[in-house]
Amino acid sequence: MKKTILIIAASLIFVFNGFAQKQDSKDSRLQWFKNAKLGIFIHWGIYSVNGIDESWSFYNNLISYEDYMKQLNGFNAINYDPAKWAKLIAQSGAKYAVLTSKHHDGVALWDSKFSDLNTVKKTPAHRDLIKPLVDNLRKNNIKIGLYFSLLDWSNPNYPNFKRNEQRYKNDSTRWNKFVQFNFNQIAEIMDNYNPDLIWFDGDWEQSAERWHAKEIRELLLKKNKNVIINSRLRGYGDYATPEQGLPIHKPKDKYWELCMTMNDSWGYQGNDKNYKTPYQVIRIFADVISNGGNLLLDIGPKADGTIPVKQVNILKELGRWNRKHSRAIFNTKAGIPRDYFDGPTTLSEDGKTLYLFLTGKPNGPLMLKGITNKINNIWVVGSGIKLKHDIKMKAWWSKIPGLIFIDVPDYVLDKYITVIGIGLDGEIKLFDDTKK
Ligand code: GLC
Repeated sequence: MKKTILIIAASLIFVFNGFAQKQDSKDSRLQWFKNAKLGIFIHWGIYSVNGIDESWSFYNNLISYEDYMKQLNGFNAINYDPAKWAKLIAQSGAKYAVLTSKHHDGVALWDSKFSDLNTVKKTPAHRDLIKPLVDNLRKNNIKIGLYFSLLDWSNPNYPNFKRNEQRYKNDSTRWNKFVQFNFNQIAEIMDNYNPDLIWFDGDWEQSAERWHAKEIRELLLKKNKNVIINSRLRGYGDYATPEQGLPIHKPKDKYWELCMTMNDSWGYQGNDKNYKTPYQVIRIFADVISNGGNLLLDIGPKADGTIPVKQVNILKELGRWNRKHSRAIFNTKAGIPRDYFDGPTTLSEDGKTLYLFLTGKPNGPLMLKGITNKINNIWVVGSGIKLKHDIKMKAWWSKIPGLIFIDVPDYVLDKYITVIGIGLDGEIKLFDDTKK
């Protein structure tokens, strides 16, 4: 009996240790990602020639497949300047970039040995468009992410073609050929570029078993033990990938990233003028980091390789704001619940500095509730101007902390969002009046 208990205990410890180790290695792999906060998504493909929906336009029968593919002839990349792209991305404050190596249309941006449907063989660009960007991003210390669509609506062995048109239903020989092809291309981009992150998409069309998602994950980690994987691998990814919808409540996932367009399109679409303003992008970004996430902000370069002026402007404005407020943004963690402060907040890694993001021009002093700590100092991030505060409603007989009122004069306000730093006497301690 004793022996059995001992054996059970030993195996439990073994299992638990294994789990803890796994968690440890995941945490260390995702360390840079957690601190990165901002990434730039790049949707670049032949769809930019006509300025239509990436891949979806033929899938949804808005254009015939033949006409969609005619865009190959117009994809020339003549003004592609990867050094300039990388510089702009660095200027925006982003710490990583994710480029569409292959979208659902199956057009690879590299010289794939496994399919001629690529920019080298089939477009006037005639070259690998990934390599020079990867090199330039690395020079700028930007981590490399590659988007890869698991589904490929152009591949003759892939079952789905258009919304109401399938190539076949059950044919395991063809399906297995496709799986092999996918593995080959995935291994190819790992070998060619050794990315830090693989951003899968299109997983919804098949199950984890059919994709061999587990084996894909193993392959990636075998090629690069530090690689991280987004969630679109049917349960085998590392972090959650909400798309377009800004989370209203703080997501439960420890690691997450909101991917978002600047207007309403991923790829370049000249007709889409519904751009968010720089203020709106910054406001959304503040919300995301306040809830402990990353923003993956999309740009859609034109077929000649130029980045639309509107998009450049947003990146530059965001960059200016990021530079000024960098210590409140990068290497921080999620802030405090909205009950304590009416707006986005972040905390320094050690929890001793609280940053408040002012989303408007205050009508009077700011109010903070329930902070048990003593305040060492309060200043405007980026300018260093010290601010005055006073404490009200601190009854000597009550445990409830006083209200902190902070004066913010007009002249310290940022054009977009002003950030206030609050130095505390130790790690932040919030008073919880739900616990009696
Ligand atoms: C969707 C779309 C795709 C786009 C992606 C970006 O999954 O299928 O067109 O590239 O979102 O997150």
